[in-house]
Amino acid sequence: EYVIINGDFINRSDAKIDMEDRGYQFGDGVYEVIRVYNGKMFTAKEHLERLMVSGKKIGMEISYSVQEIKDMLTELISKNQLTHGTIYMQVSRGIAPRNHAYPATDVAQTFVANTKSVDRPARNMEKGVNTILVEDIRWLLCDIKSLNLLGNIMAKQKAVDAGCFEAIQHRGDIVTEGSSSNVSIIKDGKVITHPADNLILNGITRQKVLEVCRNNNIPVEEREFSLEELKSADEIFISGTTVEVTPIIEIAGEKVGDGTPGAVSRQIQELFKKAIE
Ligand code: PDD
Repeated sequence: EYVIINGDFINRSDAKIDMEDRGYQFGDGVYEVIRVYNGKMFTAKEHLERLMVSGKKIGMEISYSVQEIKDMLTELISKNQLTHGTIYMQVSRGIAPRNHAYPATDVAQTFVANTKSVDRPARNMEKGVNTILVEDIRWLLCDIKSLNLLGNIMAKQKAVDAGCFEAIQHRGDIVTEGSSSNVSIIKDGKVITHPADNLILNGITRQKVLEVCRNNNIPVEEREFSLEELKSADEIFISGTTVEVTPIIEIAGEKVGDGTPGAVSRQIQELFKKAIE
């Protein structure tokens, strides 16, 4: 199995990262996860453009172009003979003696990427998943796909400890997003999801879902919604690169609707499936 480190394709077991890499010491960098279906990347351009934007937002101009990264990842897929799976990549601000201040701009960034073979989440999409609610304790730049994921992983672990699949985060009364997914509710046939501001990651899957809804006369509303609206929703689903469109059938032990995936979620799953084919 090959991985990429700074443009080189090397064996996973030979991959080494310096202990003073700023990604390791500070989480000082950004990342992306791209789905691969039938050996092809899905929405690669959107993900890679977001990677560039995430870099800019932390004052780091990524040293490769979108096309250069795309070419490297295409070669990685082929070398690893990946059919269905994901590609993970991250860019850190590079290796420098530990100091909070950014190093000089001539310090080379560290780019790494690897692949994982994984099927579509058929069972969860079919049956739906359980969730818990957790207070969103993260920082105020959640629109950046930053390597700093402590708030996210602590939320996810709470879900796992409760025997659930995902944690739905809320800031006070306002529902923001999952630990690694976006959250949408459906009320009276309308899809409602948190606006793409600094409090959520504007998921590529979220954007795709909104696009297919708009193209198929499913009304959508990007606005804040409350815990009360969440609890009284007809349907709820999470969206993301790994979960695609997964219905939520339970929140903290309370059933959503009748406790099974709803008709609108099913329709959106079908539309999304068409988009990836
Ligand atoms: N996470 N919100 C958060 C906090 C996320 O981490 C993710 C994705 C999403 C959905 O974004 P997208 O549709 O672009 O995948 C929303 C990735 C998959 C991860 O960290 O593994």
